[in-house]
Amino acid sequence: MVKENSRTESGEVEVKEKKIIEINGLTKRYNDFIAVDHITFSVFEGEIFGFLGPNGAGKTTTILMLLGLSEPTEGWAKVLGMDPLKEPLKIKRMTGYLQENMGFYRDLNAFQMLDFIAELNGITGEDKDRRINEALRSVGLLERAKKKIETYSRGMRQRLGIAEILLKAPKLAFLDEPTLGLDPDATNKMLGLIESLSRKNGMTVVLSTHMLDQAQKICDRFGIMINGRMIARGTIEELAGEKFNIDNKTYTLEEVYMKYFKEA
Ligand SMILES: Nc1ncnc2c1ncn2[C@@H]1O[C@H](COP(=O)(O)OP(=O)(O)OP(=O)(O)O)[C@@H](O)[C@H]1O
Ligand SMILES: [Mg+2]
Repeated sequence: MVKENSRTESGEVEVKEKKIIEINGLTKRYNDFIAVDHITFSVFEGEIFGFLGPNGAGKTTTILMLLGLSEPTEGWAKVLGMDPLKEPLKIKRMTGYLQENMGFYRDLNAFQMLDFIAELNGITGEDKDRRINEALRSVGLLERAKKKIETYSRGMRQRLGIAEILLKAPKLAFLDEPTLGLDPDATNKMLGLIESLSRKNGMTVVLSTHMLDQAQKICDRFGIMINGRMIARGTIEELAGEKFNIDNKTYTLEEVYMKYFKEA
């Protein structure tokens, strides 16, 4: 995590984390139903933020608002210092987004697809093919790269989505259930890739997932969302500390999550 240091008036060094995402009272209503209910939290530079919660909690709706793809009913957010309502295209260009249900131009092959993404992102010349091949190799799609996307399995399309993010190498990525539909080996590889992107390139990641054991391995902090409300956030130690009295035991994320879930 990148820290921004500053000195207080008394000369002490104050360590502050740089906010890449700042959310304040963000709310989304669909008629009488509140999908996201006044949530407030920040995501810091370089961290992997585990965005947890049961089906229908409001995670995807939140991500859509942060990308300017859905308009908040109330509250505000800043993403990379910008307002998603005012600068959605700029935010989209600077972030990676792996959607819940990746839609692709199924008539293209993987190479053509990434070539298109490269052009959109100003990656040109010799560098372009090298980077495309590297991204495809990283996700194990190089051999199938000249086959049409419509012939791909779900897991292969999921991996192509990650290849797109690898190619773009953004400062911030929203990964909405990136391991959904992947086999165990591909899941491990995918999480390894996400972790190395974050650790090596300093990419900030918002990772929405139901795979708690996996999330525990790679996430720095977590936010637990239930019924549209962010009921807890922090490191696993902080989350456990709030709910369990015994502090000389380490808890699994699953234990901690289930405790919050049952008491919500
Ligand atoms: N366009 C819409 N109109 C009405 N209700 C919606 C709409 N989009 C989402 N919702 C509702 O908002 C709630 C939050 O949905 P959301 O997709 O954000 O959940 P989620 O946390 O991503 O769940 P999951 O883990 O299943 O992906 C759900 O109850 C959903 O039915
Ligand atoms: Mg969702």
